[in-house]
Amino acid sequence: MVGAVAVEWVAAGAFPAWHAGRWEAIQRPGSAGLRHHPGLPWLDETNGRQPRRERPNTEAENVTDAMTETTQPPAGRSTDPASDLSGPLTVEPISGVLGAEVGGVDLSAPLGDRTVAAIRAALVAHHVLVFRNQSLTAEQQMAFGRRFGNLDTHPFVDGNQEYPEVLDIITEPDDRMNFGGGWHTDVTFLAEPDLGSILYAVEVPSAGGDTLFANQHAAYEAFSDTMKDMLDGLVAVHTAGMQYGQGGLSTRSNAMETKNMDAANDTVEHPVIRTHPESGRKSLYVNRAFTSRIKGLRSAESAALLQFLFDHATREDFTCRLSWRPGTLAMWDNRSVQHYALHDYAGQRRVMRRITVKGDRPY
Ligand code: SIN
Repeated sequence: MVGAVAVEWVAAGAFPAWHAGRWEAIQRPGSAGLRHHPGLPWLDETNGRQPRRERPNTEAENVTDAMTETTQPPAGRSTDPASDLSGPLTVEPISGVLGAEVGGVDLSAPLGDRTVAAIRAALVAHHVLVFRNQSLTAEQQMAFGRRFGNLDTHPFVDGNQEYPEVLDIITEPDDRMNFGGGWHTDVTFLAEPDLGSILYAVEVPSAGGDTLFANQHAAYEAFSDTMKDMLDGLVAVHTAGMQYGQGGLSTRSNAMETKNMDAANDTVEHPVIRTHPESGRKSLYVNRAFTSRIKGLRSAESAALLQFLFDHATREDFTCRLSWRPGTLAMWDNRSVQHYALHDYAGQRRVMRRITVKGDRPY
């Protein structure tokens, strides 16, 4: 299997690959867990290839190690009754910079702890995970999401009547705009934005309707050291007002009902550069949809800097593109990616089901 990495690592002793070469898969019979290979170069500035330096494990990586170790059952006794894997879980990158297709798991079945830990590690490593050929009810999708944390409800868009945590993202054939049709990170207007989103394709157009993703670690790492120093410590203001306030772009959708317009102009502050709580990696954390200004700058200064950052964040070499099929499920890490739902399928219908997992305060 070229380019694929088996991550049934507890059982097989195979080590997951960290995207862009930070980790390598090493078969070590009898060993358990995810480890940073100490001899591997740590890829640095400008998306990776130069200059290289050795880098010790971050605290977050050690936490990942510990998580892996603690999920290993004691010899001869399984602590993982929902042992759902019929074969190894595989993770195959779909681009050089982010995204991976995960195989070997049926998400409609209850997942064992080791599988959940492997998926979580793959998410932190690859930022966007794609699971093909799934067949999921809303309840099963929610059960999967709850393995990663509590589910959130959207504050400004009506959820499914039966399951408020489920957002039915529908574009009708005559809709002139779609939900998520611009670069953004989900709900950064919240003080504690969602950790991740889990989107399932119910009905897709015959062609088009792809989603683009951009790796915000890569965006940060491509800055010069001087730019990094300048951005570190800056604080940005985020608001839902431009999308969900009076006359906001997202209130114009026919297919989806918005609500709570009065609260949409509330603001929250987040660091311009955030640190991923699990990997310790830094990422650029401003987005065109919800970031309105940078604190402490004059408005012309803030507008010019934001314009540069928005353009930089979504440079082609930081992106991957997902073509949906009915039954595809994607899970992405809102702490490290932006995304953009393309609307290039006028006259056709697209129906997706989204849930989101609550996150914590960016730092
Ligand atoms: C979203 O922004 O969550 C929607 C993504 C999509 O429909 O592809």
